[in-house]
Amino acid sequence: MFQINFESKVDASRGDFMVVGVFAGDGKKKAPLRQRIPKAIDSLCDAEELNLILKKVALQGFDGQDGQTVQSDGPRENTLRRIQWIGLGAKPTLQTFRELGAKALKARTEEELNLILVVPETSEAGLNDCLTQSALGVALADYRFDKYTQKKYKGLASLDIVGAKKPSNSARERILGYVDAIRSGTFLARDLVNEPAGSLNPVRFAEVAKDLAKGNPLKVKVLDEKALAKENMNMMLAVSKASLPYTPPRLVKIEYAPKNAKKHICLVGKGLTFDSGGLDLKPPASMLDMKLDMGGAAAVIGAMAAIAKLEPKCRVTGYLGCVENGIGGNAYHPGDVLISRKGISVEVNNTDAEGRLVLGDCIDYAITKDKPDVLVDLATLTGACMIALGPLSAGLYSDDETLLNKMLGAGSESIEGLWRLPLDRRLLPQLKSLIADTKNTGKRYGGSITAALFLEKFVDGRVKWAHLDVAGPAMSEGDLAWVPKGGAGFGVETLARFVSTFR
Ligand code: BES
Ligand code: MN
Ligand code: ZN
Repeated sequence: MFQINFESKVDASRGDFMVVGVFAGDGKKKAPLRQRIPKAIDSLCDAEELNLILKKVALQGFDGQDGQTVQSDGPRENTLRRIQWIGLGAKPTLQTFRELGAKALKARTEEELNLILVVPETSEAGLNDCLTQSALGVALADYRFDKYTQKKYKGLASLDIVGAKKPSNSARERILGYVDAIRSGTFLARDLVNEPAGSLNPVRFAEVAKDLAKGNPLKVKVLDEKALAKENMNMMLAVSKASLPYTPPRLVKIEYAPKNAKKHICLVGKGLTFDSGGLDLKPPASMLDMKLDMGGAAAVIGAMAAIAKLEPKCRVTGYLGCVENGIGGNAYHPGDVLISRKGISVEVNNTDAEGRLVLGDCIDYAITKDKPDVLVDLATLTGACMIALGPLSAGLYSDDETLLNKMLGAGSESIEGLWRLPLDRRLLPQLKSLIADTKNTGKRYGGSITAALFLEKFVDGRVKWAHLDVAGPAMSEGDLAWVPKGGAGFGVETLARFVSTFR
């Protein structure tokens, strides 16, 4: 990662590009622009020249309104050639600061490698949070998946974050540690989502997990197709059948087990490295993006990577249910009845509702082996959830109010959209089957809810459970400044925060 320095005064010689965040005045008696310009830039050049620069900024109509940006020259005798002024509005939130960092990064040209970011004064209590958000905004935006392009992305080399006050040494360590952990976990998840299915199959996914464990306080165990058969994970195996023998399924278990841990959390991710739909084949346009169908598993491995660095007190076990849903002579059929690991028989009325089959067995495995206090699963499970919530938010299901609030809290602090959807059991009759204990899909309306209700059948009632349908936010269209287009790494920060604050 680039070098991060915290300063309380601008040192123009350290940057080739500077971004200054400015609040809008509030109410009728609002302060003039000059007074809202962060004091930390007084050291930029002599007062006369600074006033000239600021005059030019004001002449362009800049007043600190939210989203407003103008550009000016830097001081005459300096390497700092360009200053970008970004309005933060009158009511800044944590997201404002995350956006400021991301916009600053996006505003740089390829040659500008040393960024000075000036963060305006806030309340003393909030300063470190604002510094964290600004730094994380820069860090998360500074990403490109350039593995397959001849031209490589040149990342930022250094970042000076200039605020009203330098953080204390311990606060500084905490901020840098957090930014580094979230950045590396998120980038791992993004890389995996961006990787095409032709090169990231379940076997390869398991190898990535093994590599991660090296040099980290993590242990990885992999169940191959034989081990899965021994465990009667017949739903997971059925989905993988058409992909045998070339891309066999893998259940990857990643353990983080600190000494004296009191609580144990299981994270389970849907890891469909490709979802063709199976014999209920998807139309081409819907299939095109289906390398993203391991977004849940990517979030789990990314969170485990972050957790290995943050070293929280509780025990965490991540599971990746890695399978390819292919087509072929050996494919499972619409109408097949599968006997799940838990013993529940399932009539497959749609082979494209494969994620819940894989997850059902994985959830049951995790619960019976680990007996965790809490289990959270993440899955790019239904298009219906995207229709309901749009592309930026995940649907959150749980009937445990405490768990729900903890997840929502971790989500909002991570600025990842989580929105509660109902486990409406009145829709359970939709899953009734004539010849088996349940079908795997209900009707069109409420498709995300019936998927959650199907999963619930595999959760032992004594375990607190939450389900996140991340079909929308797993892949980014670039709507959020700190999430470049492509694999988003959605869920990594929320999970890492949830686990770190869990009591
Ligand atoms: N992986 C898809 C869901 C999905 C769709 C994720 C779009 C991301 C973007 C899932 O396996 C699926 O195919 N779901 C079906 C369920 C249906 C058959 C009941 C769907 O949403 O159409
Ligand atoms: Mn599907
Ligand atoms: Zn799927």
